[in-house]
Amino acid sequence: MKRVIIDTDPGIDDALALFLALRSPEMRVEAITTVAGNASVENCTRNAFRVLELLNPEPRPIVAQGAARPLEREHRGAEEVHGSDGLGELSRYQNPDGSPRYPEPREGPAPTHAADLILELIGRYPGEMSLITLGPLTNVAQALLRDRDTMGKVQQVICMGGAVLVPGNTSPTAEFNIATDPEAARIVFTSGLPLTLIPLDVTERVRISEEALRTWVEPLADPPAQFLLDCTAQVIAFSGKFEGFPGIILHDPLTVGVVIDRSLVKTQPLYVQVETRGEITAGMTVADRRPFRAEGRPNVEVAFEVEADRFLTLFMERLCRRS
Ligand code: RIB
Ligand code: CA
Repeated sequence: MKRVIIDTDPGIDDALALFLALRSPEMRVEAITTVAGNASVENCTRNAFRVLELLNPEPRPIVAQGAARPLEREHRGAEEVHGSDGLGELSRYQNPDGSPRYPEPREGPAPTHAADLILELIGRYPGEMSLITLGPLTNVAQALLRDRDTMGKVQQVICMGGAVLVPGNTSPTAEFNIATDPEAARIVFTSGLPLTLIPLDVTERVRISEEALRTWVEPLADPPAQFLLDCTAQVIAFSGKFEGFPGIILHDPLTVGVVIDRSLVKTQPLYVQVETRGEITAGMTVADRRPFRAEGRPNVEVAFEVEADRFLTLFMERLCRRS
């Protein structure tokens, strides 16, 4: 059983990743920490509770809210993709009696900052905690700035982010999580922590079509299944309109999947730097792949190959597993 902390900005694919983590027996989600990214940090926290109140996992992860904005830059969300609420405009949906299908969550976050909860858990379980990051790295950077020694006791950090040999998504060269807070990413990439990067190079090869999602989920006919259909409708429409593929790219679920089964990807140790000064390239993850002249020792294991079909089977089987 792996003890994990999931630092996340739900976010539709984050919500799917939380479903996978909470429905996988290999994992014990000790905590969910939220960070401003796809939506405001308040909406991200609200959305994390929406998933928890749907799935009611036992034991229940602690939820702590984190950074409301990047270390130095203004926060720019991704509402055009994830909706103004971060979960595909759930307020659109009503029950037959006209009441909201998705009322405000009943619970609120613990009275501790995400960075402090991350430090507390890594300090409590030295060498045991896997830190999975699905959003900008602001909370992780703040934890490092507060107590680098304790952070060094983390077993591994698995980070969804970056674009190494492929174009970016939020800009020609940069992936959203890194580009939202390049200064935080630079702190994490230079920290010496045992870091594995799950970049667009592999995540964009893991997609689920609208048809496949419906085929798997519709027969379940329970509230979690209805949630999966409702919260994904907007991103499916977006991807159909702008990317020619009505479906979902499973960036964050694959990142969780790698902690469940590391053999799903093949990685390569590389020296990767984060561009923070570029006017056009800010947030770019620059890997030195020169065979004989690479500067700097490898600081990241970068995933370049993925067994996409095997992951999709695992993902859908877990997604549809009743709690
Ligand atoms: O670039 C994809 C990443 O940015 C995913 O984590 C998605 O949820 C957004 O946070
Ligand atoms: Ca995310």
